[in-house]
Amino acid sequence: MSHHLSGPLKVAVTGAAGQIGYSLLFRLASGALLGPDRPVELRLLEIEPALKALEGVVMELDDCAFPTLAGVEIGADPEKIFDGVNLALLVGARPRGPGMERGDLLEANGAIFTAQGKALNSVAADDVRVGVTGNPANTNALIAMTNAPDIPAERFSALTRLDHNRAISQLSAKTDAAVTEIKKMTIWGNHSATQYPDVFHAEIGGRNAAEVVDDQAWIENDFIPTVAKRGAAIIEARGSSSAASAASATIDAARDWLLGSAANDWVSMAVKSDGSYGVPEGIIYSFPVTTHEGNWEIVQGLEIDDFSRGRMDATAAELEDERQAVTELGLI
Ligand code: NAD
Ligand code: LMR
Repeated sequence: MSHHLSGPLKVAVTGAAGQIGYSLLFRLASGALLGPDRPVELRLLEIEPALKALEGVVMELDDCAFPTLAGVEIGADPEKIFDGVNLALLVGARPRGPGMERGDLLEANGAIFTAQGKALNSVAADDVRVGVTGNPANTNALIAMTNAPDIPAERFSALTRLDHNRAISQLSAKTDAAVTEIKKMTIWGNHSATQYPDVFHAEIGGRNAAEVVDDQAWIENDFIPTVAKRGAAIIEARGSSSAASAASATIDAARDWLLGSAANDWVSMAVKSDGSYGVPEGIIYSFPVTTHEGNWEIVQGLEIDDFSRGRMDATAAELEDERQAVTELGLI
């Protein structure tokens, strides 16, 4: 990642005038990604009708006088905005409206992520990394990846770091352990209600987390559904979907990807399956990964019992269905 060490890191954010954008841009601009010594240049993509609102957000960015913000460009043309970007955070997506089925959502987002994949393919920097936050995140990442054949497939990931952070927070609340004591959390599969948050390989203060908890009923009937349905609970409570926490997780994921995960720990990232753990090849599936200087590696050799196997297979089956649907729509 030599580009980072020289000039500013060029970071594209799509859907920049949306709710996640309103939190994400200020964190990126204030150095949360690469620290106080590494300037960033923001490239903000929106659809035409949202550009005026985005201009207002840029006025606020200016007014923060962030020392680490090297410049901001906005626009509605992905070929211009993605030109030379080192990191693309694809947040903008079409939310599900009344009466829309999942197939409609996949189709509407398919148009966005095919176009953005193609634009990244032609104009992004050689070292580009692409993180997809916009839902359905895993399948949107699959569409973008497939439409960017010249960018290595391992440069694409979808966000399950929010689920990972939610799982750590729930485990911390249950055990009174500090979040910093909790390591090796894993989210397997899709960023959806079928995801499998796995405590059986996690550690609390160096001890196996499931043993510390010692409450299988809590794991099955409380922990797993609470984490998996947290997004819906926030929508119910707030009247709109998670935004600041989603932005924070987007930063955590990108920072660890570029700078590396901590020693003796791992992170959850949805990446192209190579068949590890019997997950069908080619789908964008969340695995435990270690990261180093912009590269990731799936943690190997974890023992998977029948309980975990069933859940890992169910979320894989959902992702295969989504892949089938976008294949039929001609998007990949
Ligand atoms: P939002 O509706 O507030 O903002 C989305 C923005 O995207 C809008 O400003 C819209 O104009 C823009 N947009 C739409 N099409 C675009 C295109 N083709 N190019 C550029 N911009 C475009 O939504 P939000 O709350 O900011 O959420 C954004 C997405 O993130 C949603 O899909 C949401 O479901 C998802 N999300 C994911 C996670 C996760 O953990 N992976 C968590 C929370 C939300
Ligand atoms: C979240 O996890 O908060 C969102 O992805 C929820 C959603 O369905 O939009």
